[in-house]
Amino acid sequence: MQHDLVSVESLSAADVMNLIHLAHAFKAGASLTPVRPTYAMNLFFENSTRTHTSFEMAEKRLGMQVLSFDAGHSSVTKGESLLDTLKTIQAIGVDIAVVRHPENGFYQAVLDAQLTMGLANAGDGSGQHPSQSLLDMMTIYEEFGRFEGLTVGIVGDLAHSRVARSNMMLLTRLGARVIFGGPAAWYPADFATYGPHVEIDALVAQVDVMMLLRVQHERLTAETETTFEAGNYHNDYGLTCERAARLNPNAIIMHPAPVNRGVEMASELVECAQSRIFPQMTNGMYMRMAILTEMLLAQGLMNPTDVEALR
Ligand code: CP
Repeated sequence: MQHDLVSVESLSAADVMNLIHLAHAFKAGASLTPVRPTYAMNLFFENSTRTHTSFEMAEKRLGMQVLSFDAGHSSVTKGESLLDTLKTIQAIGVDIAVVRHPENGFYQAVLDAQLTMGLANAGDGSGQHPSQSLLDMMTIYEEFGRFEGLTVGIVGDLAHSRVARSNMMLLTRLGARVIFGGPAAWYPADFATYGPHVEIDALVAQVDVMMLLRVQHERLTAETETTFEAGNYHNDYGLTCERAARLNPNAIIMHPAPVNRGVEMASELVECAQSRIFPQMTNGMYMRMAILTEMLLAQGLMNPTDVEALR
């Protein structure tokens, strides 16, 4: 892996498996520390609970110093660009910046500037969410020990989902079959390359992994939002208790969260025996430790022998 992680497109199957093995080693109790004091800053221009907190926890568990950043009180409010903000914190000594931003592909200008500091994309608009996708791969591998031969249903607000976009790319690269569900109008044309769109009742009987997506009200158009009705959505496209009863008994239920309980899935299914929603969050912290470790290694800030021993 390189010293940036902005999209899953740059990851080979071997890169993903190395990250999964490293994350599992951390989960089993392994620890690593950088070769010198290192500094991280998490710059979130969109709200977050899981991604922000688990990156910060991962940084602290790796012994990094975490500098605070508050977008609303930063010089971005005076018109400073994201690129100039990142150049500034690099000049001050930050080694890794973790950035969530509403603009798709915000990272391209940063990559073009060839900063020496590492950049982790914590979600860009409806573009990519690589760390979420990698923790999802870890959770699936933990359950099944393989990707080949698995069928994964990705259901919901596909049009706005950076999680769906990253996951369809990694799952197919790793050998899984992807099928999509949810409103047909929310099935982007470019998703067809990765898998077909089917009705949810046909989908539930086929899947090993049932992955629900949040309806992203903050990204719906005003027209779509006024015609949206939660109960109708749940009945037409959601994982109801009746549909969940028709899942394969070995199938697991995933959701990147936050969950709109009673909309994309019945509230009681969030904590059911087949749900892996909270284990996904736990795995997220370990996977982010693995991602940060590889980024630090690429900057010469981790001992290669120590990292290799855990992969
Ligand atoms: N899954 C996810 O990205 O959650 P947050 O928005 O809380 O970070």
